[in-house]
Amino acid sequence: MTKLKGKTALVTGAAQGIGKAIALALANEGADIVVSDINLELANQTAEEIKSLGVKTLALKTNVADLCDVEQGVSQAVTAMGKIDILVNNAGITKDGLLLRMKKEDWDAVLAVNLTGVFNCTKVISALMMKQRSGKIINIASIVGEMGNFGQANYAASKGGVIAFTKTMARELAGRKVCVNAVAPGFIATAMTDKLSEEVKKAMLAQIPLGKMGTPEDIAQAVLFLACPAADYITGQVLNVNGGMLMNT
Ligand SMILES: NC(=O)c1ccc[n+]([C@@H]2O[C@H](COP(=O)([O-])OP(=O)(O)OC[C@H]3O[C@@H](n4cnc5c(N)ncnc54)[C@H](O)[C@@H]3O)[C@@H](O)[C@H]2O)c1
Repeated sequence: MTKLKGKTALVTGAAQGIGKAIALALANEGADIVVSDINLELANQTAEEIKSLGVKTLALKTNVADLCDVEQGVSQAVTAMGKIDILVNNAGITKDGLLLRMKKEDWDAVLAVNLTGVFNCTKVISALMMKQRSGKIINIASIVGEMGNFGQANYAASKGGVIAFTKTMARELAGRKVCVNAVAPGFIATAMTDKLSEEVKKAMLAQIPLGKMGTPEDIAQAVLFLACPAADYITGQVLNVNGGMLMNT
């Protein structure tokens, strides 16, 4: 499996869940991987697992919400790996609550990680890609950014913002042969959805035509497709991976 041999990918929030599955899928195609996460202990474990696939890896502690931290992390990554060809903006958090009860801190925290984090990493790494005149940026959005969701005003706004940001970056970076796309997962089995009540999970499942939750690997395969040369003519798109829960025209 060598579709990405010679490429380096930096995946944010790659220590666990969807980010980890993405990192493994890219490594399985021969890409060297920077496992970037706020949780260094878990990132180190993931990097060890990836190393056993025979590619180069580096675990980095980075808070995507902090631009200085991102600049330092990217500089370390470039020193160790030489370049970055693929950026996957995956780090994300939820702090759910109805608007009337939502604290300002919970709004700010979700926007800071999910939207400003994507801005920070894209700003720093797209500068390198523009010089290289090549690159792939793949942003993990959410079905919630397209349809809204009860109790998730902060999260939905952040993910809707990621989609608009993706389309804008696709236009700004196309001239330098940098493609920017988003993957919008539906309801995926990870730590993020584990904390939902059985009642909420049941209600979600009832809305999915394929009748089951997705897996992190389902998302990873969509990201892998966009990262590979087969998708070189695709930019500014949102790839929905949601079991049919939302069907766009
Ligand atoms: N699970 C789902 O159903 C689902 C659905 C749609 C979209 N998503 C999106 O997929 C992405 C991954 O979600 P997941 O379910 O794997 O979540 P998860 O909670 O399992 O993993 C998120 C990872 O991001 C890291 N992280 C959190 N804050 C960070 C920060 N400030 N800087 C760097 N890293 C940070 C965490 O340490 C963790 O390793 C998120 O953007 C999420 O919004 C998930």
